[in-house]
Amino acid sequence: MPIVLEHLTHTYQPGSAMQATAVNDISLTVEDGEFLGVIGHTGSGKSTMVQHMNGLLQPTSGRVIVNGIDLADKKTRRDIRRQVGMLFQYPEYQLFEETVKADVAFAPKNLGVPAEQIESYVRAAMEKVGLPYDEFAERSPFELSGGQKRRVALAGILATAPSILILDEPMAGLDPVGREETLSLIKQLNDEGTTIVMVSHSMDDIARLADRVAVLNMGELYTIGTTNEVFSHSSELLAMSLDVPHTARLAATLRERGLPVPEGIYLKEQLRDFLVELYSKKHRSGDA
Ligand SMILES: Nc1ncnc2c1ncn2[C@@H]1O[C@H](COP(=O)(O)OP(=O)(O)O)[C@@H](O)[C@H]1O
Ligand SMILES: [Mg+2]
Repeated sequence: MPIVLEHLTHTYQPGSAMQATAVNDISLTVEDGEFLGVIGHTGSGKSTMVQHMNGLLQPTSGRVIVNGIDLADKKTRRDIRRQVGMLFQYPEYQLFEETVKADVAFAPKNLGVPAEQIESYVRAAMEKVGLPYDEFAERSPFELSGGQKRRVALAGILATAPSILILDEPMAGLDPVGREETLSLIKQLNDEGTTIVMVSHSMDDIARLADRVAVLNMGELYTIGTTNEVFSHSSELLAMSLDVPHTARLAATLRERGLPVPEGIYLKEQLRDFLVELYSKKHRSGDA
């Protein structure tokens, strides 16, 4: 099991007037190769929780075990940083080198990849995100499009060849083309075996990609289950004023209007298949 959280609690600025428990007693595991979606309101503790998964934040209490290593151990924490890549919200603001190649090389250099291997790591990571090395290596990251900048940031993370990727709102602020590019890249990485934890406000993205979904509410784990289980309870999510996938909302509206749409439909392919089936049944009985 690549990630285990045991009773994870995090309190910011303990003992001060500003004391705030952002994550309260969360236990969960992430399986090998799994895609876990994390949803919840702003301030529900999503970023705080995932920043424990590569040792960026330390628990106030509880334990975080990644690839069998307890992150309380300072000596081994550094090795974990290479195995767990973390993409923050708006990562393009963290680009600061003069060339794309230098930016992508930053993390592997810092994490101790031998100098003679760095170029091949950088080259592979750039090719992976669809930025051909010969075309982009010498360019300034600042003159690229939004989607390209995000891909440079992602390449910088992939350059350490992590087995786990933590993505905190990776699509925020991208135009539709940039979104689609980033989304399909993330899907491809997961298909190739990278374990992924993705925080997102887009229920449609989560519905399309995640195997399981964790719902956070006021710092606590409200529920965790398969994507199907969680979005089959759309009415509960709506009652918490959380969003649900577009198709789940449409299915609910059709149900209210009297169509026998079953519970548990949240992907447009599922709704399409149901409607085609319904239509052809009607058609057959109409002919008779
Ligand atoms: N550096 C910090 N110092 C103090 N409080 C913080 C800090 N970062 C986040 N918080 C608080 O912790 C809670 C959870 O925040 P966060 O983990 O960012 O939630 P989310 O990612 O779900 O929006 C919020 O109440 C937030 O104000
Ligand atoms: Mg956040």
